[in-house]
Amino acid sequence: MFFDRPDSGEVSILVHLIIDSESEREDPAEFEELAISAGAQPVDFITGSRKTPSPNLFIGSGKLEEIQAAVLAHKAGLVLFNHTLSPSQERNLEVELKCRVLDRTGLILDIFAQRARSHEGKLQVELAQLQHLSTRLKRGWTHLDRQKGGIGMRGAGEKQLELDQRMIGQRIKAINKGLEKVRGQRDQGRRSRRRSEVATISLVGYTNAGKSSLFNQMTHADAYAADQLFATLDSTLRRITLKNYGAVIIADTVGFISHLPHQLVEAFRATLEETVQADLLIHVVDAANEFHPDHIFEVDKVLAEIGAKSVPQLLVFNKIDLLPGVEPHIQRNEKGKTIKVWVSAKTGAGMDLLQGAMSELLAGNMAVETLRVSPSQTKLRSQLYDRGFIEEEHIDEEGFYELRVKLPRTDLDRILKQNGTEVIRHTIAVQEQTNLAVEIKAPIA
Ligand code: GTP
Repeated sequence: MFFDRPDSGEVSILVHLIIDSESEREDPAEFEELAISAGAQPVDFITGSRKTPSPNLFIGSGKLEEIQAAVLAHKAGLVLFNHTLSPSQERNLEVELKCRVLDRTGLILDIFAQRARSHEGKLQVELAQLQHLSTRLKRGWTHLDRQKGGIGMRGAGEKQLELDQRMIGQRIKAINKGLEKVRGQRDQGRRSRRRSEVATISLVGYTNAGKSSLFNQMTHADAYAADQLFATLDSTLRRITLKNYGAVIIADTVGFISHLPHQLVEAFRATLEETVQADLLIHVVDAANEFHPDHIFEVDKVLAEIGAKSVPQLLVFNKIDLLPGVEPHIQRNEKGKTIKVWVSAKTGAGMDLLQGAMSELLAGNMAVETLRVSPSQTKLRSQLYDRGFIEEEHIDEEGFYELRVKLPRTDLDRILKQNGTEVIRHTIAVQEQTNLAVEIKAPIA
């Protein structure tokens, strides 16, 4: 890594100003959580307001003195700004404050760098960091360029910058190559999942909404859940069987955040591609957070940006254990369709309702049929078992399987079509109801 990262527990001063000219305001409480997530130890929170940022230092001289005093009083090693600073503002502030200064983008990048776990996640973060760094170097270079010819401005300093630029360029190339390779492998995985016709559910939501906790509850897996923002950076996939539906793949994804730095949206597009391909999005919301309506808005905005707006969505209002008097329940729209489920991933309350809602939304229109499958069609039979579609099985006198299946009608159509079979429908009597039996004559390719 080319970057120094603040040491864990680094004593830090937080600065959050209200700038009249800034259209997008960040949440100060979230800023503090981000800082703690990065491993900082905030000791002072300096606020204030300004009409517009000053070009040199972002802040005015009065605020600068206030921060200088706080840095001295607390012996702070880091000042964090909840704003985007230009490279020169960052540099000037470091000179004035005699300690490291990090802006919001740098802070989020740092958290990402600490949290990335898989090979792909790490590559993506490093790429974002290097891109961030190289724009800073470029601007630094232009700044020096203007002073070319000044004493001491040629030679080592200049060469160092060129060298850094070249090294960064080479590393970016190598990372992009590595990313292409892992993306290829992931695409293959996705294709084979599609081939096996297993529906995919993607968990999305604002950072800290409880996606990983919900994922663990649903899968009983030990995905990484921590009281830190962005605990999850890489899609984690698990296969579960939904009652009344069958097997599905659940994907846990990276947390969303307001005003995600542009480089990161780009860098994480690949991770979020799972989301675009999903059959259903579980949009997890921290119902106990007063800003949750804003969070829903932000997540929807990103989903639209990555082209996932048309994927069916189920809102899951999580953390109801923190809301007195709220019991697990389902909310439906005027047509009776489930739109929202209230649960607690922590206590497990409402998980049965959630399972039911997911099955209902995925299935849409379930079909109960009896299929007549030849003994040679083992692949189809195992596909149906794989997805948990088979409810009952008999072997008739000719050795054919009679499989009573319950499955989404679209899936049935797809499975039959995919196998290129001729289908003969005839009604047979089954214990409690009359079903259509489907005889598949041709063997599976
Ligand atoms: P990112 O990885 O940042 O996107 O977070 P996430 O959405 O995966 O959240 P995670 O599951 O890591 O949970 C965040 C915090 O909320 C953790 O401290 C959890 O213990 C807590 N949490 C999750 N679900 C619940 C819940 O139902 N009730 C309460 N009280 N806390 C919860």
